[in-house]
Amino acid sequence: MAAKSIADLDLQGRRVFIRVDFNVPLTPAGGVSDATRIRASLPTITHAVERGARVVLASHLGRPKGRFKPEFSLLPVAAYLAEALGRDVVLADEPAGDGAKKVVNDLRDGGVAILENLRFAPGEEANDENFSRALATYADVYVNDAFGTAHRAHASTVGMVKYVANKGMGFLMESEAKMLGKLLGEVQRPFVAIIGGAKVADKIGLLESLLGRADTVCLGGVMANTFLCAQGANMGRSLVETSKLPIARAFLAKAETSGVQIILPRDLVVAEDAKAESGTVVSSAGVPSDQAALDIGPESVAEMAAVLSRAGTVFWNGPMGVFEAQPFAVGTIAVAKAMAQVMGGTTVVGGGDSGAAVHRAGVASSITHISTGGGASLEFIEGKKLPGLAALES
Ligand code: 3PG
Repeated sequence: MAAKSIADLDLQGRRVFIRVDFNVPLTPAGGVSDATRIRASLPTITHAVERGARVVLASHLGRPKGRFKPEFSLLPVAAYLAEALGRDVVLADEPAGDGAKKVVNDLRDGGVAILENLRFAPGEEANDENFSRALATYADVYVNDAFGTAHRAHASTVGMVKYVANKGMGFLMESEAKMLGKLLGEVQRPFVAIIGGAKVADKIGLLESLLGRADTVCLGGVMANTFLCAQGANMGRSLVETSKLPIARAFLAKAETSGVQIILPRDLVVAEDAKAESGTVVSSAGVPSDQAALDIGPESVAEMAAVLSRAGTVFWNGPMGVFEAQPFAVGTIAVAKAMAQVMGGTTVVGGGDSGAAVHRAGVASSITHISTGGGASLEFIEGKKLPGLAALES
């Protein structure tokens, strides 16, 4: 059975449990430093409130490992949300238990409560039966709007779902599945994927799946160092995952026979470390032994921009360098801008850092879709069935 939309569910007077992904970065002073994920679920929450639902929100924040830790409290999130909605948001002092039960029972039609960080309970990540049942007692209707967590089979995304008869996707979940889903079927060609970021292991599944689907795959960021090293380049002090060299070599060999064009950086911006005030451009064939690659160089940027200018479909995940440091953000920002120039095609950005780069480059409104999911968007584009979505289909 296909998953329903919240738009098709009867919400009036019901306790509507909405799993959201409010795993947002906080400021040192305890405020919300990037509210993108909270804002992305506002249409779902507002819809439920306007239909007279008793809204029970639930999210995780960080990885507190099953114990209460004040720095992972959802208090700043609840405060932000109350302001954004212009109404009270009651924060239960625990994810489940008598306190949470009372907060839920006291809700009136159109009222909003949020449970404390689900990961304060060990049962959440363990997908524990008792914890799943406890959460389900707060739900007449279950809605999952947490696309960013849909790749996790936890109590709030999978375990509790079977105990609630009425269930569906929130608007954010629906739009993520629809927009990312476009890259899984017939796409406008050429289909170009730009994959950067740090870890080969996190992205090798995606890269392999792209061999069957993409026309060109451009690699950048720390990950490209490992592939360059696999090709025999001297990478100096650059971060290289030496244990992943065999995987990188095998991938490059497979790519040769697949017909997919793989583009590795031709040049790199190097410096002693990311604290340096500026870098030097060198050929990617040889990074000096006392230097580390921190960004892609101008020739690589020009090559990627040329590929993007002809693209019909683009998926981008992962920065091209240490883009938090101004001198090494050039390649990442240039890719964001080149992506924004793609005319008439579909451009999709997955992952927190690339999403942030698109905003920093001031081109977010020119991108077809910026996913709120990091790992979730990678697994989705890889073609995996996300457990949080699958649970809504039964
Ligand atoms: C994310 O930020 O990718 C999601 O909120 C999932 O968080 P996790 O990687 O800690 O499960």
